[in-house]
Amino acid sequence: MDMRPLGRTGIKVSSVCLGTMTWGNQNTQAEAYEQLDYALSRGVNFIDAAEMYPVPADSETQGRTEEFIGRWHTERGNREDFVLASKVAGRSGMTYLRDKADQIRHTPAQINEALEKSLRRLQTDYIDLYQLHWPDRPFPGAGFGYHSYHDYDAGDMVALEDILGTLNDHVKSGKIRAIGLSNESSWGTMKYMQLAEANGWARPASIQNAYNLVSRRFDYGLAEVACREDVGLLAYSPLAQGYLTGKYRDDIPKNSRKDLFGNFLSRYEAHDGVEAVNACLDAAKELGLTPTQFALKFVESRDFVTSNIIGATTMQQLKDNIDAHDIDWTEDMEKAADKIHRRYRSPAC
Ligand SMILES: NC(=O)c1ccc[n+]([C@@H]2O[C@H](COP(=O)([O-])OP(=O)(O)OC[C@H]3O[C@@H](n4cnc5c(N)ncnc54)[C@H](OP(=O)(O)O)[C@@H]3O)[C@@H](O)[C@H]2O)c1
Repeated sequence: MDMRPLGRTGIKVSSVCLGTMTWGNQNTQAEAYEQLDYALSRGVNFIDAAEMYPVPADSETQGRTEEFIGRWHTERGNREDFVLASKVAGRSGMTYLRDKADQIRHTPAQINEALEKSLRRLQTDYIDLYQLHWPDRPFPGAGFGYHSYHDYDAGDMVALEDILGTLNDHVKSGKIRAIGLSNESSWGTMKYMQLAEANGWARPASIQNAYNLVSRRFDYGLAEVACREDVGLLAYSPLAQGYLTGKYRDDIPKNSRKDLFGNFLSRYEAHDGVEAVNACLDAAKELGLTPTQFALKFVESRDFVTSNIIGATTMQQLKDNIDAHDIDWTEDMEKAADKIHRRYRSPAC
């Protein structure tokens, strides 16, 4: 397993990160334990959670994912053996996340409350990487399904100084070791970097955004920021939520994400999505790879990627996804990915 630096923090993380957002809904606690034990045995030392998981977000299930991880490392006595990431939700209506709030925002008080609750569920004194899940400002490009920029009211946001200053206080107190961004833009990332430099605060160490063969917005703007500023991409949805495995080409497998929660996948079928996914599946076959190997190794081989966040609902999927790490990325594979990108750009955005 390759180990890569997490920004300038001195922390080393595996280039494959274990995603957890199915634990507590599609996956039981026993299955989460099995995934964790197996991933660690394969050299994965990086685990990505969030206060709102599992998905789809729901007040009934919220917090289960962190609770599973907390119980697992307490039983195993291995908290020092892995790098634990979690996230505080951004602007939203998920008011059940807080004791009392009309809206979820990144106010200092809400960040403090969210962190305390995550630490409790995770049964730990510290979170290695604490990420802003998506921005507090009403930035339209947060997450998927964004194609054209339309400006928002820049007065309608918690000041970035207040957000970063609060996180920096937690770095100083030792409750978090590093700060991460997610679903962030080039402007937001650079602004946080400037604030960190001007105030002598901890700087963001990573950006967790969507990235895969059919969702390549990160290549434009953010990729250079990631390389020059040492704020690498933690790529989520590297398999386009399953589409890039080929599982939906002819059918919808029972109990797959599309079968269970179809609507949130429609972005992969809009615009040229279906054609772009099919081009990836055909290219993998020509290259002598499985579609999963082609998609995962493409992400891991980008210069700006620190870690590729895989997700699995079965042990076979997890094994296949970790095995994909062992493929050598070749010139022919690069050419094939480039050809698809030139033809389809970023249909899932
Ligand atoms: N920051 C954010 O906003 C954000 C957003 C999304 C995800 N994330 C993080 O990124 C992680 C991964 O995201 P993701 O789940 O969307 O990643 P993904 O790799 O694009 O999709 C994973 C899903 O695809 C299916 N799958 C995975 N491997 C497979 C295989 N080898 N063969 C067939 N099907 C396979 C499984 O779903 P089924 O078995 O149900 O089909 C699995 O849950 C999450 O757990 C979370 O930690 C973060």
